[in-house]
Amino acid sequence: MTPVVKARLQALKGVEDILPPDTYLWQTLEARAREVFGAYGFEEIRPPIIEQTELFVRSVGETTDIVEKEMYTFTDKGGRSVTLRPEGTAPVVRSFVEHHLNTNPSPQKYYYMGPMYRYERPQKGRQRQFHQIGVEAFGVAEPRMDAEVIAMLLEYLKKSGFEGLRLELNSIGDEVCRPVYKEKLKEYFGPRMNELCPDCARRFEQNPLRILDCKAAGCAALKGNAPKITDYLCTDCRAHFDSLQDYLKMLEIPFTLNPLMVRGLDYYTRTTFEVTTERLGAQNAVAAGGRYDRLVEDFGGPPTPAIGFALGMERLAALLKDRVEIPKPELFIAFIGGGAAREALRMAVELRAKGLWVEMGYEGASLKSQLRKADRLGARYVFIIGEEELGKGVLKWKNLEEGSSGEIESAEAFAFLRPAQEG
Ligand code: HAM
Repeated sequence: MTPVVKARLQALKGVEDILPPDTYLWQTLEARAREVFGAYGFEEIRPPIIEQTELFVRSVGETTDIVEKEMYTFTDKGGRSVTLRPEGTAPVVRSFVEHHLNTNPSPQKYYYMGPMYRYERPQKGRQRQFHQIGVEAFGVAEPRMDAEVIAMLLEYLKKSGFEGLRLELNSIGDEVCRPVYKEKLKEYFGPRMNELCPDCARRFEQNPLRILDCKAAGCAALKGNAPKITDYLCTDCRAHFDSLQDYLKMLEIPFTLNPLMVRGLDYYTRTTFEVTTERLGAQNAVAAGGRYDRLVEDFGGPPTPAIGFALGMERLAALLKDRVEIPKPELFIAFIGGGAAREALRMAVELRAKGLWVEMGYEGASLKSQLRKADRLGARYVFIIGEEELGKGVLKWKNLEEGSSGEIESAEAFAFLRPAQEG
């Protein structure tokens, strides 16, 4: 009889497991975000992972790569079109409007962290399920808020140990000056239509700004000589952009102007920015964001200027991989004999209840193999309990870091490990 070979199940393509010890790094990155963003008065918001498809079509934009090609969209059992969120801004704005968060004292400042989904070609730095830590600040139109949000992002990156990052800055204007700029782009790209990729040729009429974001060789080659938005900003957008640059200089935050950076989402107005690094290869943006002063209103809320950014966690984790301190057990309890096994279990449970990370040997293993295991785990202390120690109510200890050893009464175990806390 031929044996039935069962196919081994694997995670979906572009969807990765995050395993220990990497999860320690992720926890550190998350904890630091809570700490830094908390100091700036940002509070956590947890929008759902799944939303109506229309939310993203109307905010991210119909002609963007995300909406045209990358969304995880399907029809649910009730016949509704739903989408796994490709980004976090639209859900936060939807939540802001739905729960009238504008009635809270202004500015309303939120952060979120969690998975996002884009059906892209998986490659280094690009997954189909990836994670963002994002922030959104509502209610302040002044460039001071842009400067605050950027300062907060850089503070976070600095505290996380990043060096050599580059802040690129642009303004993509507003409903006053952008239409003029779009016409200029059409005048420039129009006679060069046959050099554009099919996507951009199609998007040319509706959204010529997208051409500037296109990576196709032909489009990218034309980009360099294209008109620059910063030459067409209206007086208000110009003043906003100049003032932001003044603030950044005052805060000693270096930046590079990149007048061709339009970002891959349609909701932006005025300020856009990206933090990039050469160490990531082609997918070089660690974080990106910008202002979106019309979006709340577009979703039926009151006119509310807003700005935010999102950090790509996988990219941060890739850059910091070797820098995290991996916690180790405080204690390994080795034992010889059945009675000592009972005592080891009793003591482990008691010490764990007091917050110590305690590992122990398992029945049948020789003392030598238990000690080898303690060493492999990196435990700081080993306690050894044999029948003789058990009878006397004592245990032998070894400090594996210092190589010292001795004997204590079993009842003093916690005081011995944490002298400061007992007194
Ligand atoms: P985004 O530029 O689409 O902006 O994404 C922000 C960051 O998420 C990127 O810079 C990158 O680090 C990471 N990222 C994006 N796609 C992937 C992927 N497929 N794999 C791995 N990492 C990825 C937004 O999502 C906006 N919602 C940011 C924002 C918030 N703007 C205003 N508020």
